[in-house]
Amino acid sequence: MSAATHQKPVVLIAEELSPATVDALGPDFEIRHCNGADRAELLPAIADVDAILIRSATKVDAEAIAAAGKLKVVARAGVGLDNVDVSAATKAGVMVVNAPTSNIVTAAELACGLLISVARNIAPANSALKNGEWKRAKYTGVELAEKTLGVVGLGRIGVLVAQRMSAFGMKVVAYDPYIQAARAAQMGVKLLSLDELLEVADFITVHLPKTPETLGLIGDEALHKVKPTVRIVNAARGGIVDEEALVSALKEGRVAGAGLDVFSKEPCTDSPLFEFDNVVATPHLGASTDEAQEKAGIAVARSVRLALAGELVPDA
Ligand code: NAD
Ligand code: MLT
Repeated sequence: MSAATHQKPVVLIAEELSPATVDALGPDFEIRHCNGADRAELLPAIADVDAILIRSATKVDAEAIAAAGKLKVVARAGVGLDNVDVSAATKAGVMVVNAPTSNIVTAAELACGLLISVARNIAPANSALKNGEWKRAKYTGVELAEKTLGVVGLGRIGVLVAQRMSAFGMKVVAYDPYIQAARAAQMGVKLLSLDELLEVADFITVHLPKTPETLGLIGDEALHKVKPTVRIVNAARGGIVDEEALVSALKEGRVAGAGLDVFSKEPCTDSPLFEFDNVVATPHLGASTDEAQEKAGIAVARSVRLALAGELVPDA
């Protein structure tokens, strides 16, 4: 047998993943690493690998697919596939897999955390106190009980947020044209049109995929329809809540606060949104718990093993 026959398939890990990922891949692969967010590293690194494992910072676009002559699988250790050109991959015969349930509880918990934080000014009060300022009146917040929560996108994460915030006594309404009203009603959620939701919600939380339809959905027009007391959370994808429109609405007092985990350009370390005391921001931490990362890593490792063995990859 030639030496080439004995070569192990190569798996490129392009972002930091849980150590459980490599354990779950096992000994049958050559594992390489690169910084997938750096194109100058990614493009040569992807050239001769069989599979690539990514989170959200690596863009596996048509250019990357074209550069990847041996690639058979793109494995996204998480939910969103907006950083993968699925149609270019499919045309090139490359399978795309993700881990659609791995981090949903974790992401829902962060959205709830942002919601509570923005209602009670936890982040700015914490910063002020650590700077020696004991300001109780300034950081008076609002209660969640009896308030209306508008969930935009009642999918896996939206449902978990709805259930958790119901336990706080919130009334939950949702906008999702792909969900049956009866199914929403079973969960105690009333389905509304987007305009109706914008009018009645005291809090809005966005749980949509990033698509041409959802990009900018909560933009200038929408932000002119909300209550001036509304607080908005986006832990889905940057740009679904338009950042410029949100800045204007916050400046003009048309929105009372926001909790943001995601940004239209990431990493985002400088934004006019960071000037507002009533904006709490986190660096795309929605999936960042030990538990979620372990689940995501194990799920995609399993899919890569099956795919490279030519076996059927079941839906996760
Ligand atoms: P999901 O597919 O289960 O739910 C999305 C819902 O959005 C579906 O019910 C769908 O019907 C609805 N929807 C789709 N297009 C719509 C439109 N144009 N108008 C209204 N509703 C529409 O997805 P999910 O697992 O709940 O994830 C939601 C989002 O959260 C995704 O963007 C995902 O990438 C993101 N996410 C972010 C993090 C993070 O780290 N911040 C972690 C996990 C997931
Ligand atoms: C996701 O869509 O799963 C998140 O963006 C998680 C991640 O950070 O990978």
